[in-house]
Amino acid sequence: MNQNSHPFTVQPGGRLNGRLRVPGDKSISHRSIMLGSLAEGITHVTGFLEGEDCLATLKAFRAMGVGIDGPTDGRVVIHGVGLRGLKPPPGSLDMGNSGTSMRLMSGLMSGQAFDVTMTGDASLSKRPMRRVTEPLASMGARIDATDKGTPPLHVHGGQRLKGIHYDMPVASAQVKSALLLAGLYAEGETCVSEPAPTRDHTERMLSGFGYVVRRSGNCVCLDGGGRLRAADIDVPADISSAAFFMVGASIAPGSDVVLEHVGINPTRTGVIDILRLMGGDLTLMNEREVGGEPVADIRVRSAALHGIRIPEALVPLAIDEFPALFIAAACAEGETVLTGAEELRVKESDRIQVMADGLTACGIDARPTPDGIVIRGGRLGGATVGSHSDHRIAMSFAMAALRADGPIRILDTANVNPSFPGFVALATSCGLSIREGADA
Ligand code: S3P
Repeated sequence: MNQNSHPFTVQPGGRLNGRLRVPGDKSISHRSIMLGSLAEGITHVTGFLEGEDCLATLKAFRAMGVGIDGPTDGRVVIHGVGLRGLKPPPGSLDMGNSGTSMRLMSGLMSGQAFDVTMTGDASLSKRPMRRVTEPLASMGARIDATDKGTPPLHVHGGQRLKGIHYDMPVASAQVKSALLLAGLYAEGETCVSEPAPTRDHTERMLSGFGYVVRRSGNCVCLDGGGRLRAADIDVPADISSAAFFMVGASIAPGSDVVLEHVGINPTRTGVIDILRLMGGDLTLMNEREVGGEPVADIRVRSAALHGIRIPEALVPLAIDEFPALFIAAACAEGETVLTGAEELRVKESDRIQVMADGLTACGIDARPTPDGIVIRGGRLGGATVGSHSDHRIAMSFAMAALRADGPIRILDTANVNPSFPGFVALATSCGLSIREGADA
């Protein structure tokens, strides 16, 4: 892709104000399609994220014979076919940019009676898949990848799976979920233990669909051979999308925003904890539970931030929010040190290097390390930054303009809309001077 395509230009200064609801949670949206398709009965989903990643999952299940109505204004109706009801798709399944689709479906597809090939875009085709294919192989799955362990993946059907006990070497919800989903089809018990807590939406939703999931300490187990019963799902607003506005409002003096109906599952709230440790002013209001997931409205007011050493225990709980948090660090007084975050190097881009390059272009002292970064807060200058097609990098630098002393131009932002439909309009409505296009 042309790295200069589809730029954003963001004028410096301003502040964020108002009440806003960001789109639905991506992780929960993916899982709603997967489990709704495999359930018996009709699942009604509201708040579904209508972005390309989740639509790739939706189209894949449609291609395997599942009747899915919508999405219309976030509403999807899934006519579940049961765990054994999927049909061979007519061609390969295109997962686009979506690592979650590819990794979770590797597990699910391993238990089917038919073969499936899954492909991805240029970024996904570089991402590591051995982390799922190796443990799945020890359950009896047969998955072919490239010599580098990257997509496309060809999953052979008709394999007999057996449950395993797996100690994950990396804290990854995608790996955990892939194994649990394969475990639905396996003989006996599948258990996954994690080195640190990761998002538990799969476990929660399985329970909500009537499947028995046992959790003890850092270990989650299920037995194969059960059934899923359809259940309605209200997808909360995505805390990972809300994070850009949390950071924007924190760094821009005079800001005061309320982010409505945000999912605050404790496996996802690292961004709130880290901003608070930096001196951020965030208040949770109207806390409630919706369909097994905790939700709140979050008020964020601007605050003088200071640098911190980010506790490593918070890393998996904020794994997608670091690009935004690095902008907060650039606007904070003193030094922020991140360690234990090598996973950031294998996301949609190498988020440590790409953020360090962008911050350096803005005049900030940002030093990457093998497993993190050291950022010294300072004066943010206007600059042109590359997003490397990474939606979260692009949206993070858009917020940086609130504190910059010149325009920030961000290249190659075409992947923003698939992850956060309407980002430019929503950001504009609460005060960011952002436009799509090259001119200042
Ligand atoms: C996700 C898990 C995380 C996260 C990704 C979504 C999920 O990936 O970065 O955006 O929905 O399970 P890892 O499991 O690789 O950390």
